[in-house]
Amino acid sequence: MRLNLTVNGRPREADDVWEGESLLYVLRERLGLPGSKNACEQGECGSCTVRLDGVPVCSCLVAAGQAEGREVVTVEGLADLARRRSGGGSPGEAELAPVQQAFIDAGAVQCGFCTPGLLVAADEMLERDPDPSDADIREALSGNLCRCTGYEKIMDAVRLAAARGSEGV
Ligand code: FES
Ligand code: FES
Repeated sequence: MRLNLTVNGRPREADDVWEGESLLYVLRERLGLPGSKNACEQGECGSCTVRLDGVPVCSCLVAAGQAEGREVVTVEGLADLARRRSGGGSPGEAELAPVQQAFIDAGAVQCGFCTPGLLVAADEMLERDPDPSDADIREALSGNLCRCTGYEKIMDAVRLAAARGSEGV
């Protein structure tokens, strides 16, 4: 089947898609967007998290056909999404979304395999709740597993992104 969807603000299409193929496969293998990672392919780890019509989902569990006509945001689209949210800037003005910069500055990235999914989930939470408690952060990221960091640096990064957001940085 032919799949039509919007990815990171752009209309995209993919041909010869099998109905049972996952959205993750389509993104990575057909649309050239390898940012979303495939770690478990069972909905357990969150490394494949993308937004589907605004809602974070494990893209390994979404059948490609379910994404027909819908809007997907991947980690590759976070900077642009942040620019649009802040109502300004031209593409290329800032290379990273604030949450991405915060992960770097807080040292929250080790092997990086979990990072794209965490970034998408954290960015969505900060959009809903710019001043989250630690419990809010833990709940929002509870579906995203990290084998390396022990999570404290990730907590630091999200707190940093929230603090910078409240300061308008
Ligand atoms: S690869 Fe999708 S949840 Fe792990
Ligand atoms: S940084 Fe390695 S799994 Fe999270």
